[in-house]
Amino acid sequence: MGVQFTKRAISTYSILNTKKKIIVTGGLGYIGSHTVVELIESGYEIVIADNLSNSDLDVLDKINEVSTGDKPKFEALDLTDAEKTFSFFQQHKNAKGVINFAALKAVGESVQKPILYYKNNLSILLNIIENMERFEMNNLIFSSSATVYGLPEHLPVNESSSSKRPTSPYGNTKKIGEEIIEDFAFNNSAFKSISLRYFNPIGAHPSGKLGERPNGIPNNLMPFITQTVSGKRKELKVFGNDYNTPDGTAIRDYLHVVDLAKAHVLALERLLANKNDTNYEVFNLGTGIGYSVLDVIKSFEKTTKKKVNYSFVDRRVGDVPILYTDPSKARDVLNWKPKYTIDDMTRSSWNFQKSEEI
Ligand code: NAD
Ligand code: UD1
Repeated sequence: MGVQFTKRAISTYSILNTKKKIIVTGGLGYIGSHTVVELIESGYEIVIADNLSNSDLDVLDKINEVSTGDKPKFEALDLTDAEKTFSFFQQHKNAKGVINFAALKAVGESVQKPILYYKNNLSILLNIIENMERFEMNNLIFSSSATVYGLPEHLPVNESSSSKRPTSPYGNTKKIGEEIIEDFAFNNSAFKSISLRYFNPIGAHPSGKLGERPNGIPNNLMPFITQTVSGKRKELKVFGNDYNTPDGTAIRDYLHVVDLAKAHVLALERLLANKNDTNYEVFNLGTGIGYSVLDVIKSFEKTTKKKVNYSFVDRRVGDVPILYTDPSKARDVLNWKPKYTIDDMTRSSWNFQKSEEI
């Protein structure tokens, strides 16, 4: 009887324990934390590695509060440290894949400190790929950026549009990162990877518990708006109102971070099911709709009933006038259909900002 019970217990354990383990590097950051929630809800076992250089440990609690599945494991780890990264991968060598969000991402800082950016972002990637090869972990999703298109020749931008030298060292780490992965995949037929080129992720989790927490003065539009309205910043400076656009302000393809997170689950499933057409694939992630800076401000004012204090200043160096994607490849191949509107994005961003101040 005792033996029977033990056998049953073992088989029940193995049935219950069939979750696929996925390593999420940079998983306590803005996009990583939302993706971890979606992965947990989709039944994955998650291990997060993050050095907390641009995130806080309390994000782990928030992930646990908003998700219903198993709690993710967490390791505080600097992924540029080759030895520690090796030990981490060895410990989790049964993982089926890696989603790499870990990177420094402040464009202006990367111009001031290019070596820091190349060292951090590229060492992380090289350490990850080296260990994936070592432990025969064959599925990698990489956070890339629309910045790889530089100043586009044609709009909308699609995956075949020529990828230029980006206007910042940060952007260049994404372009070089993609090339490293492509070169590695070319020589390793078992290895599969997808680079996701994000356009402009904004918005926050519907719970208001997860969102973007920039360090210091925000560089990006949405956190600058929310911090201006909350009184943390005096005024939003709108960079340029003399662009050749309907209202003179620059146009971008904003997408909700939860839609973006769901795209990672779809990309991962594509790789795990061996549905990829080639062992290195690229997808643009945006809604395909361009909104100007003034459109975003108007949406924010409408959804929150708050006034945004702003003035026009000169264009920001390195900004492109208009950038939006043709979203058809992600829609047709990944079956990714972003559902959130610009109003959902501005409303949820404000909800998160408010909850941060309680
Ligand atoms: P984020 O800064 O919120 O998250 C990145 C995480 O990586 C942080 O938690 C940080 O602590 C961690 N990290 C950085 N260096 C590390 C290291 N050496 N070791 C371990 N962890 C480290 O950024 P995000 O907005 O969530 O962006 C995620 C990814 O998407 C980044 O690779 C970024 O470049 C890319 N991306 C972001 C945007 C955007 O608008 N947010 C657009 C395009 C691409
Ligand atoms: C920027 C980066 C890009 C990076 C992306 C995500 C530059 C040149 N590009 O994209 O490499 O991948 O963030 O991190 O920095 N704006 C204002 N006032 C502000 C802030 C922004 O008017 O205070 C305007 C910008 O001019 C732009 C739009 O808002 O037209 C969006 O800006 P931002 O959120 O910084 O994103 P991008 O410039 O598209």
